[in-house]
Amino acid sequence: MFILLLKNLVNFIVHFLGVQMYKIPLISNMPEFVGLPEFYDEAKGCRVKIKDKWYYDFSVIGASACILGYADKYVNRQVIKRIKKGNFSSLNSRYMAKLTDLLLAIHPYYQTVRYCKGGGEALDLALMLAIEKKNKPVIIQVGYNGWKIKNDVSKYVNFKEINDLIKLVSRPDIIVFELIRHEYPDIKVIDKLKEWQKQGTVLICDEVTTGFRITFGGCHQLYGLEPDITVYAKGISNGYPLAVVIGKEAIMESDLWISSTYWTDSIGFVAGYYTLKKLKHCNYTLLIKLGQTIKTVWSELAKRYKLKIKLGDVPQIINFEFDYPNKLLLKNLFIEKMQEEGILALDQYYPSFSHDNKAVGAYIKSCNKVFKELGRLVNMRGWLEMLSENPNHFIKNRIKELKK
Ligand SMILES: Cc1ncc(COP(=O)(O)O)c(C=O)c1O
Repeated sequence: MFILLLKNLVNFIVHFLGVQMYKIPLISNMPEFVGLPEFYDEAKGCRVKIKDKWYYDFSVIGASACILGYADKYVNRQVIKRIKKGNFSSLNSRYMAKLTDLLLAIHPYYQTVRYCKGGGEALDLALMLAIEKKNKPVIIQVGYNGWKIKNDVSKYVNFKEINDLIKLVSRPDIIVFELIRHEYPDIKVIDKLKEWQKQGTVLICDEVTTGFRITFGGCHQLYGLEPDITVYAKGISNGYPLAVVIGKEAIMESDLWISSTYWTDSIGFVAGYYTLKKLKHCNYTLLIKLGQTIKTVWSELAKRYKLKIKLGDVPQIINFEFDYPNKLLLKNLFIEKMQEEGILALDQYYPSFSHDNKAVGAYIKSCNKVFKELGRLVNMRGWLEMLSENPNHFIKNRIKELKK
């Protein structure tokens, strides 16, 4: 009793003094993991406000979700209208039906759609539907595919190894795969997936990051693949929670109890419906051009300032890596220096339709300055030791990691 009273008193004093008690619960969102600041206050277009300062966001624009940019006015208007009219009831939203019709029109080879709120949960749901149709299946996973799925799989293949897939595994009963990340799949891999499907393998294509980013629709459509199930999330609803599991009737049908109260909340359906309506009229070559421009900037500045880097292939999800044994240290320094310039940057850039010429100009100017500094640094003798001895606050944690 006394201890409880004491605890409450301490909590009260701590709260009263405004001392921070929280710990960010997601590793993926911790500043020391990803390198971006802890909190934001506003996010609009390609800019993010932190306290009183606006930053250009040239990182992954809402973990890849906000292809139209943050707080898109067109989508927001419709969402706000729906909230005012009541976004939730015990009945189904008409927007669920409208979105389903739209999705089925984009995928003529599918008949059924299910919805939930997150990509990881949707992939788990898709896998559950496939497992139900097979007896003790061998499951292969290619790529990230969300936080849950790994428990069920027999073999995991890193997305960098997609082109070695045929060498690494023989025909599984079920395969869950990301088709594109930082490089394109070999045509041999596509042919193998088609052949496996004919022989009875269930193909589950993870388009959580690629969907409606690489092209309007899924990137599987570019390769003439018709996976048994395709999963979308993130970019499908531009920042509002929605995930889509769409597929062929035979695999999607189920007697299992698959249900969750907020899966029928209509905000995601409205956001998804109007996001797709807007994206349909967007010129996707703009995203490609943005990615190619930033890739060229990295490549030319690296040459100019004698920095060794490796570049990715896919403009809509473009990335670079410092080509040094201690690349993490340099990456963190790049991130931190770019933030000092007012730019949220990472070693990858996910273009959005909100990145205008002014923003790109500001990025190039800052990148030039930071690459110049880094170039000067790596061409000095003993630079790593020097950096390790005088770390700025952000890289301190990473240096510990590097020394392990
Ligand atoms: C390819 C891919 N699949 C699945 C997921 C998981 O989606 P979510 O974070 O919405 O659960 C991600 C998220 O980064 C992803 O990139």
